[in-house]
Amino acid sequence: MTEALPVNDTSAVKVPTLPDAQTVTAVKHWTDHLFSFRVTRPASLRFRSGEFVMIGLMGDPHPETGKQKPLLRAYSIASPAWDEELEFYSIKVQDGPLTSKLQHIKVGDELILRPKPVGTLVHDALLPGKRIWFFSTGTGFAPFASLLREPQTYEDYDEVIITHTCRDVAELEYSRQLIENLKSDELMQELIGPENLAKIRYYPTTTREDSPKMGRITTLLQDGTVFKDLGIDGMSADTDRAMVCGSMGLNTDIKVILEGFGLEEGANSDPKHYVVEKAFVG
Ligand code: A2P
Repeated sequence: MTEALPVNDTSAVKVPTLPDAQTVTAVKHWTDHLFSFRVTRPASLRFRSGEFVMIGLMGDPHPETGKQKPLLRAYSIASPAWDEELEFYSIKVQDGPLTSKLQHIKVGDELILRPKPVGTLVHDALLPGKRIWFFSTGTGFAPFASLLREPQTYEDYDEVIITHTCRDVAELEYSRQLIENLKSDELMQELIGPENLAKIRYYPTTTREDSPKMGRITTLLQDGTVFKDLGIDGMSADTDRAMVCGSMGLNTDIKVILEGFGLEEGANSDPKHYVVEKAFVG
């Protein structure tokens, strides 16, 4: 019994509505460790493709007071700014405070969504360029799932390269299907245009399970494999822009590589050549 509910009210058995509640509209489990879900979008929520929000559930009641506190984590919005719903892509951590519960959500359930979007992986944080690179590992693909469905990405750039590195092939399925569907979807053809969708170059790699392209993206950049595979002459601050989202290791290591090509880190208030955000683990 929470303090908000009178003791003698029998209708009080139903679960109280969460603050900032949104309703789950779809859930898809990709592997034992990865799932994506969609929720209703608050009418007042405006965000820029690539930003993140805090989402979560109510924590367990306090053993003495019975009070419940929201358990919130940062999640990149994987859907584009124009979408009527919001999509998220999450890891499942068996003993994770939030994702151990969140992984069991079903259509019709409610979750908490604080409508205050923020983030650095936005077009405003980059100077104009010719080619944009999206570098991701694991669930770090999420903000790019948004940006790849964002028309501005194609207005701003002639080429859009998305790299996704995971341990195993199955972990690449979300990005693979999203990009395949993007290219064949009628709405996307209309909204973004086939000539713009043709700008996408998908570069998936695995590090532990055999696949057509193996290796960390950092290694493949350093030894020139990526450029050879894509028929590109390296990167330069004149033409190339980059956004990075992955593990701390990726973010740290790739910065050195990008700086080596002469790119400088930008921010919303100071646009430059590349921006970085860590992939959020729930
Ligand atoms: P690896 O298998 O060689 O560690 P995780 O599942 O640990 O979040 O990692 C996701 C992917 O990111 C894995 O393929 C992993 O490769 C890769 N990765 C981890 N650290 C780095 C790093 N410092 N630079 C590039 N890729 C990395």
